[in-house]
Amino acid sequence: MLLVTGVNGGLGALVLERLAGRADVVAGSRTPDQVRAELPARLVDFDRPETLAAAFGGVRTLLLISAGAAEDDVVTARHGAAIEAAEKAGVEHVVYTSLSGDGDHLPYALAHRWTERRLRESGTLRWTVLRNGLYAELLAGIAAPGPDGVITAPLGTGRLAAVARADLAEVAVNVALAPARHAGRTYELVGERAVGGAEVAEVLGAEYRPGRLTDARASVAASDALDFQVPMVLGTYSAIAHGFLAGPGGPGDLAALLGRPPRPALEVIAGAASVG
Ligand SMILES: NC(=O)c1ccc[n+]([C@@H]2O[C@H](COP(=O)([O-])OP(=O)(O)OC[C@H]3O[C@@H](n4cnc5c(N)ncnc54)[C@H](OP(=O)(O)O)[C@@H]3O)[C@@H](O)[C@H]2O)c1
Repeated sequence: MLLVTGVNGGLGALVLERLAGRADVVAGSRTPDQVRAELPARLVDFDRPETLAAAFGGVRTLLLISAGAAEDDVVTARHGAAIEAAEKAGVEHVVYTSLSGDGDHLPYALAHRWTERRLRESGTLRWTVLRNGLYAELLAGIAAPGPDGVITAPLGTGRLAAVARADLAEVAVNVALAPARHAGRTYELVGERAVGGAEVAEVLGAEYRPGRLTDARASVAASDALDFQVPMVLGTYSAIAHGFLAGPGGPGDLAALLGRPPRPALEVIAGAASVG
């Protein structure tokens, strides 16, 4: 049996769409009553480790979707609780959605690397690490034009090898349904063609006038962002602007695991803008 966590999040929901109707799949969520797919659902809350023994009963493969929206100590406690419970429940294989290796400069990299290390050091679990690149949908959000049609995101001439979240969901499903083939593997799942502020502006019919990090910090801090999210967003801008997230510029693990070229990031960004 495969259990997927975080199914009411953006990535988890896309994963579930692809697994709906399968007899050997269970959905895990803090809100199992809100799971829309035709699948049995179990309560899974890493902040309440007492929920996890029952949740992981009979599970052979756990698709552990990172629960990263918090300070490092909270995130590592969540992932640590999930992995410990998986070990105790006799889970055989954990597939973990991590962060791409080129993201080591990002403020949220630490919790992912901690989790990867915790999995490597497990005495009982087999594991696969899916090092997800930053979503095209995320770039659409942090580089959205203002009401005046101007993108001021401080990306300079930096580019991001952004990935369609749906592609990452598809890879997660492919791997989680055949975990033995991927045991002990760490995959780098980044886009093939990096995009920057100028290209985002062009596809949206906007203008790109990149601002400074200090102005972006003030504006993110003045928004409804939580305290820990301010350095997350600023660190993301900075890593893109300084050229750390441009990717290798060609096919890699993502295309290999999809069995086709990835969806172009600019199409995803244009689509996100048209619905948003
Ligand atoms: N690569 C990227 O660009 C990128 C961007 C944003 C986030 N991320 C990371 O990738 C993860 C998945 O992305 P996403 O798009 O699905 O993010 P999302 O839409 O914010 O969903 C995150 C989900 O994590 C689950 N979660 C949160 N706290 C939890 C807890 N205490 N116990 C169990 N599950 C918990 C929740 O699922 P339920 O509501 O079903 O409980 C939540 O909906 C994020 O959590 C974050 O770590 C990556």
